[in-house]
Amino acid sequence: MTWEFQNLASASNGSEGIGFRRHRMTTRNYSTLDRLLMSADNALRTVFGQPHTTERANPAAHLPEVDLGERERRHVARLMRINHTGEVCAQALYQGQALTARLPETRRRLERSAQEENDHLAWCEARISELGDHKSLLNPLFYAGSFAIGAAAGLAGDRWSLGFVVETERQVEDHLDNHLARVPQRDERTRAVLEQMQVDEIHHAQVARAAGGADLPPPIRLAMRLASKVMTRSVYWI
Ligand SMILES: [Fe+2]
Ligand SMILES: [Fe+2]
Repeated sequence: MTWEFQNLASASNGSEGIGFRRHRMTTRNYSTLDRLLMSADNALRTVFGQPHTTERANPAAHLPEVDLGERERRHVARLMRINHTGEVCAQALYQGQALTARLPETRRRLERSAQEENDHLAWCEARISELGDHKSLLNPLFYAGSFAIGAAAGLAGDRWSLGFVVETERQVEDHLDNHLARVPQRDERTRAVLEQMQVDEIHHAQVARAAGGADLPPPIRLAMRLASKVMTRSVYWI
């Protein structure tokens, strides 16, 4: 058996997809062009199409809708737009890292985490449309930027790349705390999505840490916080 690179988020069942896939030596090796095309496919799927999700149900599925009133509805929809763009960035980071990762085994360990990011993407998108709003027009831009950052992190080596995942997930966890404090208690549908996302992000950080993620230097952590501020402030409006 061997481990070979495969398109991130390329399948929806638990046995293949995001990152790497185990298969016999007789199966094909992907060329650089194949990989670039698979990356392009995933980018289009993430920004404009339907990403492949896991078997999990939307955590809001059985919860009642609530009348928020116009002002609160718009506010919550904009917060969910930020969260949706955050998940677009997460997919792009994983994609970029997969393109340059050195140890296939390391990437495989993050397979499930990356698939769950697609769940988050789908749940946020569903909630935005329930609230009658639109996804961010800036998503292609943020996807491209995050992809480049992910590729750079992958080039720095797997230890740093995994450390980057750990730090990203921790920052997202804090960010979700902030959003949970701003979403009305009675909006159970939005809260259920955010709460499940937070549980998942904590777990993703633990997985990346256990796989050998290093602590990033403080200036890098600060730069990441500043970059996410740029994203959250612009996407709230656009
Ligand atoms: Fe996520
Ligand atoms: Fe995550």
